[in-house]
This record gives sequence, structure tokens and C-alpha cells, in this order.
Amino acid sequence: MKVLVVGGCGYIGSHTVVELLKNGEEVVVVDNFSNSKRDVLDKIKKITGKEFTFYEMDATDKEGMRTVFEKETIDSIIHFAGYKAVGESVSKPLLYYRNNLLSTIVLLELMKEFSVKRIVFSSSATVYGAPEKLPIRENAKISTTNPYGETKVMCEKILSDFVRVNPGYEAILLRYFNPIGADESGLIGENPNGIPNNLMPYIVKVANHDLECLHVFGNDYDTPDGTGVRDYVHVTDLANGHILALQKPLEEGVHIYNLGTGEGYSVLDIVHAFEKANGVTVPYVIEERRPGDIASCYADITKAKEELGYLPNKTLEDMCRSAWNFVKTETKTEEK
Ligand code: UFG
Repeated sequence: MKVLVVGGCGYIGSHTVVELLKNGEEVVVVDNFSNSKRDVLDKIKKITGKEFTFYEMDATDKEGMRTVFEKETIDSIIHFAGYKAVGESVSKPLLYYRNNLLSTIVLLELMKEFSVKRIVFSSSATVYGAPEKLPIRENAKISTTNPYGETKVMCEKILSDFVRVNPGYEAILLRYFNPIGADESGLIGENPNGIPNNLMPYIVKVANHDLECLHVFGNDYDTPDGTGVRDYVHVTDLANGHILALQKPLEEGVHIYNLGTGEGYSVLDIVHAFEKANGVTVPYVIEERRPGDIASCYADITKAKEELGYLPNKTLEDMCRSAWNFVKTETKTEEK
């Protein structure tokens, strides 16, 4: 099977490319390095010992993307090429709508032109907004509070409308919860530029003394210790969810799956697990709640388990250890 991975050099994309190659699939990667680094390409080759084809291209560039479809006989697409910073999406809404919507439309137009029947789309638990019931099932109410979330809801709608009128085509929408951790090699992982927005990259920088202390956004939520609860999933388990989605026999229409672990952990659970797993300290201070945050969010993953055979098996300790291993490996490489 030849898989086109659009946005294959980013955090989740690169881990998915690694798992695809390990599974013996043929992979074509497209990326424009807008939020990733070129050296990821060599690192993927080093981890897997396998070759793949790469095109440096913007997924919204239809003519450019058409040349990829002309050269490669693609069986399936995985679309990771979306901007993902919630705060930035509020200040730059058009950038988010343009990139995230247009890339999806371009891919669908080219799928139609070249009869590529299946697309797997990176969606997010953000589409559930403030959930009414926990754990969250795929049929829960959809609502969003920021342009980033809107783009996920709109792309899901565009994909659904497309497959509804195109018999034989399938869209698989994977709603990610909170991916953390890194490949066990320590070569690829999450390393955002500047001050991180997300919890794990921030903790890692505090542990590495790049930042002074973690700011815990609120300890007065209705949760066991008052801090926010999320469903953290190891990025390699998440990546494997994509492989399983592609291995499933093609079934026309839309198929939606939650990808998390089904377990909720609080901010302080994560801090303490990180300290214990890595023998480091992570100083923190309690701050005001972050606007837009919710108390708790965790998945019901029954559907992915039953229909895809999805079985996340990495522990919270694995997640914490691998996230730290990645930063230590990177620091060592930079020092050389
Ligand atoms: N948190 C802190 N301090 C920080 C960063 C985060 O206390 O410096 C807390 C948050 O308040 C929240 C938890 O840690 O309780 C997780 O926050 P993240 O920013 O890591 O993740 P979110 O759950 O807010 O958002 C993530 C992705 C979104 C996605 C969403 C889906 O960043 O893109 O999950 O559930 F939409």
C-alpha cells in the first residue's frame, strides 16, 4: 500500500511515518516545514533503516500537489497538515481557516481527480468543546470555542459532505485526545519553538532548566485534586491507530474514532509521574484558570478498540520517560 502522508514531518506525522515504514508500507511524505524541521527526514530513516519519497510542498498549493499525485500511485492519504495552536488561531483566524480548510479541499479535489478512495484526517477532541458526559463517545454533541476548533469541525463536515456524494470513497476522522511522549529512539518528539502552550513540552523545559517553573492553570476545578484532567496518550500508540485505520477493509462513508487511552490524569498527576519516572524535580506555582480551558476531558475508546483493534499499551511512565529521553538526546546532539 502506498500512503501519502501530508504534514509527515510534524510531531504526530513523523511518528506515524515511522510506524508505517516499520509495518512495511510504501510512504510518500509532503511537508513545507512550517512547523517542523528538515532533519526529521534523516531521523526517520535512521530509526527505521527504510527509504521513502519526500516532496517539499505546501498542501494548499493545488498545482504542486497535483504533480505529486501524477508521479505517485497513491492508495490512501493521511492529512496532518494543519495549524494547531489555539491561542494563535484566535489572533490569526484567517491564517487558520485558509490553511486548514484549503489543504483539506485541495486533497479532496485531487482524490477525486486521481480516484484515491480513502483519507484519514487528524481531528481533535477539541470538537467536543465542554463535554456534557464523560467519558466522551463519538456521538457526543459538537461545539467549539476558537477558530482552531472551528477548522476541525468544518473539515470534518467538508469530508463528510464529500464522501456522501462520492460512492466508494471513505473518510476516517480520528479525534485525538492529548498526545505526549516520543519515539523510544529519542530522535523525534515534540519540540515547539518558543514558550510551549501545552503541558508536557512545558514540563520538559522546566525539568531541563530552560524555564523556571510550571504555571498550573487553576486548582479549583471539580476534579479529584482541583487541576484539569485530560486523556494523555503516547504518540506511538496514537500513530498505530492510523495504521489500524488503514488496515481496516475500505468501507465507503465516514467513520469516526476517538484516540486516547480512556484514562484521565490531572496536571499534578502528570507533574508527579514525570518527577518519579525521570528522577527530576518540576517546580510549579498555581495560577488563575486559563481562559477557554475545561475541567475534564477523556475518551470512551470502545469504538476504536472494537472496530480497529486499537489497544494503547504505553503507560504514563512510558510517556514521561520518552518525553524526557527525547529532550536529553536532543540536548546531547546540540552540544556536539
Ligand atoms: N496546563 C497547565 N500549564 C501549562 C499548560 C497546560 O496547567 O503551562 C494544563 C491545562 O490547563 C490543562 C492541561 O494542562 O488542564 C492540558 O493542557 P494542554 O494545553 O497540554 O492541552 P489541552 O487539553 O488544553 O489542549 C490539547 C491540544 C488542543 C486540542 C485539545 C483536545 O493542545 O489542540 O487538547 O482536547 F484541541
